[in-house]
Amino acid sequence: MSIDVADTSAVQAATAKVTAEGMQRYYQLAKRQAWDVRQLSWGQIVPVPEGTGSAEKRARRHSMWRSVVTQQLQADLIAVQLSVQLLCAAPDEEARLYYTTMTADEARHTEAWLKLAHDVGGTCEPDPFLEKLGQLTMNVDTIEEKVFLFQVAFEGLVIPRFHQISSAAPNTILAEICNKLSIDDGIHHGSGVVYEKLLLERANGKTKRAIERAAREMWPLFMQHLLWRPRERAWATSSMRSRDLQLVESQRQEVIKIGRDFEMDIDLSYS
Ligand SMILES: [Fe+2]
Ligand SMILES: [Fe+2]
Repeated sequence: MSIDVADTSAVQAATAKVTAEGMQRYYQLAKRQAWDVRQLSWGQIVPVPEGTGSAEKRARRHSMWRSVVTQQLQADLIAVQLSVQLLCAAPDEEARLYYTTMTADEARHTEAWLKLAHDVGGTCEPDPFLEKLGQLTMNVDTIEEKVFLFQVAFEGLVIPRFHQISSAAPNTILAEICNKLSIDDGIHHGSGVVYEKLLLERANGKTKRAIERAAREMWPLFMQHLLWRPRERAWATSSMRSRDLQLVESQRQEVIKIGRDFEMDIDLSYS
């Protein structure tokens, strides 16, 4: 059976409609989930775990939590910039509408981290590898690469990290923020998967090859980011090393799997 021109455009219209509805759903969901930093229990519970033992031991634990807050603030400052880029670059009206909510979310996350950083005595050393990853992602050539790297990969990979921090810091503002962010980033990741599918339906094979290449090039940096320890957490390095390597391997498998879901072959080697 042949498909004439009218049929083809009908199919395209139907595809566009379904996908646009998909982004509209994420827009509505994000609007419903939007929260205010003032809703958190500031002043009622401690900002980060206080720890026990000698003053020296407690000070060391406090520095470690400060470095956790610093890295999250650093990540959300990058996320704000990437969301603004997507808001300006998205070719679809529904997607642009959605990206207004994501930009607002990332700004609110930054607001929460800034307030928490203030409450724990300020920030400390930033992660140089995270900085480079942010710069590379901001400078990729196409929106397909940007949505894939930022929303499909990074935002999907960070969600387990929020659960991990939250369970290590019960009854703290830090845990409250992580719980909110795991929901928000679930929406950011889910919408990215839906939008990337639409973008790739329209793109040619060259775009997928560019994504594979960008992911391969960024992997060594991403691995260094996962393994990086600021001075404040350097003491934990040897005891954490095997857990870190397990994390690297599970994230490597996850990125390969995500690539396969999009019919891409992302070959990530350790060399
Ligand atoms: Fe965020
Ligand atoms: Fe996000």
